[in-house]
Amino acid sequence: MIGLKIQKNRANDVRKILLKNSLIDLDAKIKREDDYVIIPLTEKPDKEIMDIIRQDVEIIETTFQMQKRGPRSLKDYLKGKVEDSKIDEIRGSFDIIGDIVILEIPEDIEEFKNLIGEAALNFTKRKAIFRKKSEIKGIIRTRELEYLAGDDISETIHQEFGCKLMLDVKKVYFSPRLATERKRVADNVKDGELIVDMFAGVAPFPVLIARNHDVKIYSIDINPDAYYYAKKNVKLNKVKDKVIPILGDVREVLKNKEIKADRIIMNLPGMAYEFLDSAMYSIKDGGVIHYYEFAESFEKPIERLKKAAYPRKIQVLDKRKVRSRSPGKWHMGIDVKVIQVLD
Ligand SMILES: C[S@@+](CC[C@H](N)C(=O)[O-])C[C@H]1O[C@@H](n2cnc3c(N)ncnc32)[C@H](O)[C@@H]1O
Repeated sequence: MIGLKIQKNRANDVRKILLKNSLIDLDAKIKREDDYVIIPLTEKPDKEIMDIIRQDVEIIETTFQMQKRGPRSLKDYLKGKVEDSKIDEIRGSFDIIGDIVILEIPEDIEEFKNLIGEAALNFTKRKAIFRKKSEIKGIIRTRELEYLAGDDISETIHQEFGCKLMLDVKKVYFSPRLATERKRVADNVKDGELIVDMFAGVAPFPVLIARNHDVKIYSIDINPDAYYYAKKNVKLNKVKDKVIPILGDVREVLKNKEIKADRIIMNLPGMAYEFLDSAMYSIKDGGVIHYYEFAESFEKPIERLKKAAYPRKIQVLDKRKVRSRSPGKWHMGIDVKVIQVLD
């Protein structure tokens, strides 16, 4: 092979020129000899480039060690086996939760699932890869997962806006895609508020809010595993004096507690409307409800809120599409203030 021998202290500038002109053989390693480096070349640079380099360089015949280089992307890894468009689909479905990657593999390329798992393990540098095996379902909103590669562990600690969230991806609901939404809600909170998270899961909303505000938050969930991790997370994030995890059906919990909250979070978008009476019972006049619903437009959820608030009124503070749910359907977020109207 041929190489360009140049003094060490001038090598970087020359390397850039050679690289720009595609003259470096990237499969070989640059060699160092005393005060010189030898850059592996694909071909001898022409006179024009040698004029630009214009330095005391020498083209020599030598041997180089080759780079140990595996595939450089998921596409490289699966080349010839899986269509590029399918790989884009897989990449779009990636959820990274702490050390764990959860991805979706279309059924027509199921035969490559282990290869895809190994590729994902390599490129994400996480510890475990799982595949989604069902939709999110049931009261506790979990999904079946199939182990693909790495360590078969499902408990991990996810970091989000400075919070540590411990959870088991098989036993509780958690979506890293809601991080921005959680931040948005937390940024609205004011010190001194009494807050209820009606469907708190492992307590990502309460922990983020409590780390940034002087508040009291009831973090309620019906899933014993979510309650277990909510307690862990409250300790991990040192917010034990602000967040009170409660295990139970929120309807029962609120019925038995005389709470008049400044703020209520209702992140159970498939069924939250069934609990609007409970929320209205526990929100004080002037309090804010962060309401979520899977819907095609804002009209239906706003109508439900109006009806549930009656005889009080609602003032819509904000409405947004949090995420796409399915074609034409959105995970909507609506913030309303509940107001007492005096005749
Ligand atoms: C979509 S998850 C939201 C979790 C959390 N807010 C988050 O952002 O990760 C909904 C949660 O509501 C809980 N849940 C469902 N029905 C409930 C009920 N009747 N009372 C209390 N929690 C309930 C589920 O166990 C689940 O953890």
